[in-house]
Parts: sequence; C-alpha cells; structure tokens
Amino acid sequence: MIDSPPQYDNEHNYITLDANFNHSFYTRTLPPVPADCPTPMGVAGRNDLPDLDILAKSLLSREKFKPDQRGTSVLFPFMAQHFTHMFIKTDMKRGPQFQWGGHGLDVSHIYGRDKHDEDLLRSFRDGKFKLQTINNEEWPLHNKDVNMKLNFFDFVPVMENNSFALGHAFFNNFPGLFMFSTIWMREHNRVCNIMKQEHPEWDDERLYQTGKLIVLGKYLKMVNARVYHK
Ligand code: HEM
Repeated sequence: MIDSPPQYDNEHNYITLDANFNHSFYTRTLPPVPADCPTPMGVAGRNDLPDLDILAKSLLSREKFKPDQRGTSVLFPFMAQHFTHMFIKTDMKRGPQFQWGGHGLDVSHIYGRDKHDEDLLRSFRDGKFKLQTINNEEWPLHNKDVNMKLNFFDFVPVMENNSFALGHAFFNNFPGLFMFSTIWMREHNRVCNIMKQEHPEWDDERLYQTGKLIVLGKYLKMVNARVYHK
C-alpha cells in the first residue's frame, strides 16, 4: 500500500505537509538512505556500485542484430519514452527532488508546458497547430521562427535545422521523440479538420480544446490497448 498523504520527500525522512501539498516535490514511499550511512545503497545494499562502462557493455552492447521475438521494434521504446516524459519531469535546475510537471496524463509534452508555450505553438485558426510544409509534408516550425526555450544535451550541436518548436523542451534531442511529437501534432490538425466540417459554428478555441481532449483520449486508448490486448 502507498501511504496517503505520502510519508517522505527526498529532503526529509519523516512526515511533512509539503510532501503532500507541494506539487513541485517528488514524494517517496521509502525513506531516503540516511546521510551518514557508510554504504551508498543503505546497509542492506552493496558496498560499491558496478563500473558503468562494464555494466553498459555487458548488458547493452550487441555483436549482431537480434530481431525481437515479440515482433516489436525501436519504435516501441521511443513511444514509451515519449509517453513517460509527459508526466516524469525532473526539474534539474532546482535538483533531483523537484519536478515541474502537471502530475498527470495531460498531453503537455505535445501541446506545451503552460499557456505561454501552448500559445506559441498554436496558429489560432481552426484550432490547429502552426505547422510548416516541407516536401509536401507537415512538420513543426523551426524554433528560430517561434523562439521557445529548448534544452539540449551538452554534446548535441544546436543548429537552426535541428531545433524545432515542440511541446517538450527536451524532445529535440532524440529523433524518436521529435517523430512522435510530429505525428501527434499532425493528428491534432487532422482531427480539427474533421471537427470543423462537423461543427462549422465552433470557434478556434473550442476546436483547439476539443482536439486536445480527443488526442488525449486516443493516446490513452492506444496505451491501454498495448497493455491489455495481445
Ligand atoms: C536512446 C535511449 C535513451 C537515452 C539515451 C536516454 C537518456 C536519458 C537521460 C540522459 C536522462 C536524464 C537522466 C538524468 O539526468 O537523471 C533520461 C531520463 C529519463 N528517461 Fe531516458 N533515455 C533513453 C530511453 C528512454 C526510454 C525508452 C524511456 C521510457 C521507457 C525513457 C524514459 C525516461 C524518463 C521517464 C526519464 C526521466 C525524465 C525526468 O526525470 O525528467 N528513456 N533519459
């Protein structure tokens, strides 16, 4: 059972009101390892941690391609990565005990973290995202035309042609995250086109908000379908 209100946050190993009410905190069900504990993982854990290079090489490196037995592909982990970044959002600037998300499945990773960012991505016409056409295909706008605040890994060279305006500041770092955001933005606009035909009297705001609800519904249905059906 998970205690409610939660027992701990990362800074306290006793109950605080903040653990329940301060939504910028991650809470935890187990107390942190005491600061004066001589072993890094607690007295029941190992004295030392394995070398990361050895761990990565022995667990992750492959000599040759092995197809997944369930027939899945790299699209699946990218989908999971896109999904989980919707609600697991560590605020690294403040510290690993803080988070900046909305605590739920809110499609903010597609639409933007707050109204300011959402508005930057909107066209304010027919409820749609502002997208650009490249080779007859719809793509997110280059960020030079939008000026959103983006986060890149230090080792990723930031150039005009790899910086796109996406709902999550981190998503330009990975092709799969960029791809899934693009697909969902296209889907939102497709849904808006259909709604506009069905409800010509709806204004931009209603089409946008309803499109967002529908995209969330589709996202949840897809995730459930993957979990519960073979
Ligand atoms: C190409 C493979 C991947 C790489 C290189 C990668 C890299 C990273 C890095 C560097 C971080 C930040 C860690 C930190 O500073 O604490 C991170 C966090 C995270 N990753 Fe991945 N990741 C990959 C795949 C995935 C997948 C497949 C998933 C989901 C199934 C995933 C979900 C997450 C989540 C939820 C976080 C935490 C984000 C947060 O705390 O704000 N990642 N990843």
